[in-house]
Amino acid sequence: MKIAVLPGDGIGPEIVAQAVRVLNALGQKFDLEEAPVGGAAYDVAGHPLPPATLELAKKADAILFGAVGDWKYDALVRELRPEQAILGLRKHLELFANFRPAICYPELTAASSLKPEIIGGLDILIVRELNGDIYFGQPRGIRTSELPLFKGAREGFDTMHYSEPEVERIGRVAFEAARKRGKKVCSVDKANVLETSQLWREVMIRISKDYPDVELSHMYVDNAAMQLVKAPKAFDVVVTGNLFGDILSDEAAMLTGSIGMLPSASLDKNNKGLYEPSHGSAPDIAGKGVANPLATILSAAMMLRYSLGMPAEADRIEKAVQKVLAQGLRTADIYTEGTQKVSTVQMGDAVVAALS
Ligand code: IPM
Ligand code: MG
Repeated sequence: MKIAVLPGDGIGPEIVAQAVRVLNALGQKFDLEEAPVGGAAYDVAGHPLPPATLELAKKADAILFGAVGDWKYDALVRELRPEQAILGLRKHLELFANFRPAICYPELTAASSLKPEIIGGLDILIVRELNGDIYFGQPRGIRTSELPLFKGAREGFDTMHYSEPEVERIGRVAFEAARKRGKKVCSVDKANVLETSQLWREVMIRISKDYPDVELSHMYVDNAAMQLVKAPKAFDVVVTGNLFGDILSDEAAMLTGSIGMLPSASLDKNNKGLYEPSHGSAPDIAGKGVANPLATILSAAMMLRYSLGMPAEADRIEKAVQKVLAQGLRTADIYTEGTQKVSTVQMGDAVVAALS
């Protein structure tokens, strides 16, 4: 089984190294091949997603991805920014279905800024569309405004669009996922304002007829943002577009105590996937050995389950993570009084030890 390992920038290399150790400790034969991506790739190859990295990602069975981005690339033109690497991989490999589970581990309820009764036992899944929306819509750019009031001024513009088949394929992914869980799908849109959302909602209603066992509800994105902090446990599967999903998944992450805990999977129609922590490259703490590797380790578990057909190994990793949390080990982001603060590598050590 070939796994492309793309550590990226900031804390990416530190956290990916721990996930790789955990994979290697499973006693299975994985063919791991590493390549630069993001700012790290720009530095060595002049592009955030060099052809060799893209080729490796294409031929691999799965991709383990760290994080990209660093302030030092802020001055680059957009096409050369580190973020283009992850956007390019998602687009080139048609990874349209993004799974972002938000699970609040009982040991970490105190690490969240929300009250324990609001988040205790939380287990929701955000299914975010990843290939369309205003992220990729054309035309886009910066031009001279033709609006009477602002004529001659510079104006930025982007285009939001979703075609019916695009909505249908992500909708079906969400309904299928809900079938295996709490059997509820909440579709989040802005149908009171946007045509794109109006069509989105029509398609969700149409395909819901094929899933009579799953309950479909709709929510405007502003209300969804509010309900996520008010009563997050009322959700099961949330399905939404690329932009709304980006925002809501960060919000959902904070419900769980720390964004450092959340894995993600981005899948194509054949379940080939890219696995990455839901958090970013955190350049402010890079190289200090304090980053939480658990989201990346849990992403490796998702990879075993969704792309590599190894659910038993995935279970082993997830159980090991629960065990180290129960032992009271915490990286700085999830540390609370009475627990034991550990470094990135020590957390990796503990998970490896807990595997057996
Ligand atoms: C995410 C990130 C990316 C996104 C960035 C790095 C382009 O925020 O995966 O949520 O906006 O999708
Ligand atoms: Mg984001």
